[in-house]
Amino acid sequence: MLDIAFAKPVLPKSGALVLLVGEGELPSGAWQQVDEVTGGAIGRAFKAVEFSGAKGKTCTILAPGAGFSSVVAVGLGKPADLTACVLNEVGGHVAAAVMREPAGAVATGALQPSQVAEVALGATLRAYRFDRYRTKEKAEDKPKLMKLTLLTADPMHAKSAWEPLAGVAKGVFVARDMVSEPPNVLHPAEMADRCKKLSDLGLKVEVLGPREMSKLGFGALLGVAQGSANEPRMVVMQWNGASGNGRKPKGKPVAFIGKGVTFDTGGISIKPAGGMEDMKWDMAGAGTVVGLMAALAERKSKVDAVGLVGLVENMPSGTAQRPGDVVKSYSGQTIEVINTDAEGRLVLADLLWYCQQKFDPRCMLDLATLTGAMIVALGHEYAGLFSNDDTLAQKLSAAGQATGEKVWRFPLDEAYDRLLRSEIADMKNIGGRPAGSISAAQFIQRFVNEKPWAHLDIAGVAWSTKDAPCVPKGATAFGVRLLDRLVAMNYEG
Ligand code: BES
Ligand code: MN
Ligand code: ZN
Repeated sequence: MLDIAFAKPVLPKSGALVLLVGEGELPSGAWQQVDEVTGGAIGRAFKAVEFSGAKGKTCTILAPGAGFSSVVAVGLGKPADLTACVLNEVGGHVAAAVMREPAGAVATGALQPSQVAEVALGATLRAYRFDRYRTKEKAEDKPKLMKLTLLTADPMHAKSAWEPLAGVAKGVFVARDMVSEPPNVLHPAEMADRCKKLSDLGLKVEVLGPREMSKLGFGALLGVAQGSANEPRMVVMQWNGASGNGRKPKGKPVAFIGKGVTFDTGGISIKPAGGMEDMKWDMAGAGTVVGLMAALAERKSKVDAVGLVGLVENMPSGTAQRPGDVVKSYSGQTIEVINTDAEGRLVLADLLWYCQQKFDPRCMLDLATLTGAMIVALGHEYAGLFSNDDTLAQKLSAAGQATGEKVWRFPLDEAYDRLLRSEIADMKNIGGRPAGSISAAQFIQRFVNEKPWAHLDIAGVAWSTKDAPCVPKGATAFGVRLLDRLVAMNYEG
């Protein structure tokens, strides 16, 4: 992780310097000083490219003199629009602009300590890179940025505002690391082992294997897993921060449930070859839940939370389940498996039921890369939100606006539920092509018992093919910041 430091605003004598410039702002402070020591190079450059401090715009001036390798200006936009989200993006632009330097200093001008911390978060999130398997990359092709020093009048308060945000960033990286791993490495047992290691953070972590799950009667999850040589796992992670020590629960926990299909071939209803490699990130819901639990523990959140992930590999083989099979879920309800590629909902069905039986949570949120139809509906900008509870849905929308991890609510309705009727069992596992994301959510809702519940279909937002300000291309960890904020705004103390 990027090394973040805070210091009083003294101009560095060398290296890269970043100036944060508000729209229409006049030169003062560091900006004015650098302009003076470089003989007006900054002002001339701004004029040449008409840099005005507009939001998201940057102006890079290489070797302007006075020892600087570069001076980069990043636009803050209008002061009235400076939300946490915008500050994160500014931080992202800062990191991207100085990525090729080993270290950088950022003059943050009149920003408040909490605002400076949000800039640090954005920079940290953008500087992430998963390069574990690149063995031949030339040094000059690698990003070099190791350390960023934010210059501010109040380094002490900026640092204390940064500490919890650093915890969130660590959680995001836990999720991105898992989601980025190739599927031959990150099979269910390996992912469970990595979860287990997070007990170092004070999390209570339990792992159940196929024998325990079969004893419980997880027929839906085990049906998905039965075609794979890699055994399934369920991981239960608890963070009990409400009582202050992380160990003892105080009341009912908030529950998070993640789909963890470490690879989804589709099973016997096999997917086409093109793009199938993407299905390594079909465990992103689980990755997010694990990253979130890590974040809550890292920042010692005063919440009681439980995270459950169902880890399976969906493979075609002589032992795989067939279209037409009828399985009995942990809830007792039977399911006719029409399409073995609609496997995520089968995994979630048993986890949701188990979660209610075991923890009687105050509310449940599940995350899943559930349907391709979600991408058709919302593309890669918003996650789909489905909920039986207007208050919970509103809380999620608010947390989405605050973090930039945005959600858009879809309807649930008996009429959609009817699409799941089966001739032989209590339900089918698919509802047909129309409204595919909604019928998937209706399926999940059949395993929710009068509990405030929300389902996030993150199929379109879990992976990105292009860089965004705070999210380099690849695994996004969408949901970690959103749900961390949901907890912070509603369930702490
Ligand atoms: N994991 C997929 C959904 C998915 C597709 C996620 C593309 C991310 C990108 C899921 O298991 C699946 O295969 N869903 C099917 C459901 C269908 C058979 C009803 C789908 O969306 O085609
Ligand atoms: Mn599938
Ligand atoms: Zn899937």
